[in-house]
Amino acid sequence: MCSRDDAPVIRELTMDDLDQLVALDQQAALDPWSQEQIEQELNYGNALCLGGFKQGVLVGYLFCRWMGDSWHVMALGVDSACRRQGIASHLIKQSIRQAGPDAHYLEVRQSNLVAQALYIQLGFQQIGLRKGYYRDGEAAIVMRCPPGGIETL
Ligand SMILES: CC(C)(COP(=O)(O)OP(=O)(O)OC[C@H]1O[C@@H](n2cnc3c(N)ncnc32)[C@H](O)[C@@H]1OP(=O)(O)O)[C@@H](O)C(=O)NCCC(=O)NCCS
Repeated sequence: MCSRDDAPVIRELTMDDLDQLVALDQQAALDPWSQEQIEQELNYGNALCLGGFKQGVLVGYLFCRWMGDSWHVMALGVDSACRRQGIASHLIKQSIRQAGPDAHYLEVRQSNLVAQALYIQLGFQQIGLRKGYYRDGEAAIVMRCPPGGIETL
């Protein structure tokens, strides 16, 4: 299913994708969401929920939320069998293309060096540290991608 040769199809997720999305989030996320939280996100007016598909199968997702003056990446995950094929990069670039020129912010676990490498490669910069941000006490690195900070084309 996952081949480097074909780029993922990226499109907005709907309630029709819920079952695949819940299963993928359980498999891929470090901090999986409940089905109810995912349903709320899909129905939330100020959210952009994108999926990456290969051969019609959901292999990656990104939730992004408008917070009044900027976008915040709420969740990002890629099927463990499909990583390192540019799927997360495609999702982030597409969200910035669709969301427009405003800044994007996110929090990432201090120990999650893989995700940090992805964000840095895409132009995000560390702007802060939130101690005890996660339920298990781990700190979050706060990152920001300035408006126009990513070449999306
Ligand atoms: C983080 C994650 C979303 C990356 O998804 P991905 O589709 O594999 O990422 P990409 O293929 O777009 O990677 C782009 C770049 O990120 C960096 N990167 C990605 N995976 C990496 C790894 N295992 N080791 C080092 N760098 C890595 C590289 O710079 C890579 O570019 P390159 O392949 O040209 O070297 C995926 O590993 C994942 O789902 N992890 C678990 C959930 C998670 O951590 N979510 C983020 C929460 S903040």
